[in-house]
Amino acid sequence: MKLVLTNVSLSVRQDSQDKEILQGVSFGVRLGVIHTLLGPSGSGKSTLLYAINRLREFQRGGITLDGEDIRGINVYELRRRIGLVMQKPIFFPGTVGDNILYGPHLWGKDNSLTLADPKHYLEMVQLDPAWVSRDPNTLSGGQQQRVSLARTLANNSEVLLLDEPTSALDSQACVHLETLITSLCQERKLTVIWVTHDVHQAERIAQDVTLLYHGKAVEHGESKHFFAGPTTVEGKAYLAGKLGGES
Ligand SMILES: Nc1ncnc2c1ncn2[C@@H]1O[C@H](COP(=O)(O)OP(=O)(O)OP(=O)(O)O)[C@@H](O)[C@H]1O
Ligand SMILES: [Mg+2]
Repeated sequence: MKLVLTNVSLSVRQDSQDKEILQGVSFGVRLGVIHTLLGPSGSGKSTLLYAINRLREFQRGGITLDGEDIRGINVYELRRRIGLVMQKPIFFPGTVGDNILYGPHLWGKDNSLTLADPKHYLEMVQLDPAWVSRDPNTLSGGQQQRVSLARTLANNSEVLLLDEPTSALDSQACVHLETLITSLCQERKLTVIWVTHDVHQAERIAQDVTLLYHGKAVEHGESKHFFAGPTTVEGKAYLAGKLGGES
């Protein structure tokens, strides 16, 4: 297993009470596969991704990367090895090119021509390479989503955490991105956790699936089994479109 989550629990203090957002989440993520994370709105999907690259600290349980406790890994090194594409991209001040080169510069990878060429990463996500000098905030939502992915790809991470990466894309760009990520998994043994609300997309791309509901991993396993017939009440309700989100 590339990543193993064991009883991960994360709570926040709200109105003088502890609110559990993740409750004892356990599952493994196999090397080189796309693992989709499904679940209604508010079930804890984004929070779980943040916990994995330590943007949010969990209070109990553990997460290992290649068998090593992630809390024992330098946090910047961890975030280089585990890249995150956020649900709503946030850009650093500067151009599209500055944003793409931010990680490689930080981690001293700018000595390689390919890695240092932001145009290469724009082409990978089907954006005009001439846009390196644009302000990313002037791009459309779907274009920003792809710049955010290009920036993460430039770090050459081992694991990608993708939080609804195609939510603002048209169907052509969506298919391109699915094909790109699938081929990176096959060719470079990239491991991906992909959050999506699109069950058809999950069925197309994922080898494994975990369903989150109220902060619990209620069902997980191989995607072909899940889509052929979920075993839990929640899994059945989710595929029937009857598992509601939190209000
Ligand atoms: N800092 C916080 N304080 C209080 N509640 C929080 C905090 N962060 C997250 N939550 C709550 O935790 C729950 C899970 O949020 P999260 O963003 O992980 O859900 P999600 O599954 O990604 O939802 P969506 O599909 O809408 O993106 C939500 O009910 C949210 O309101
Ligand atoms: Mg979310």
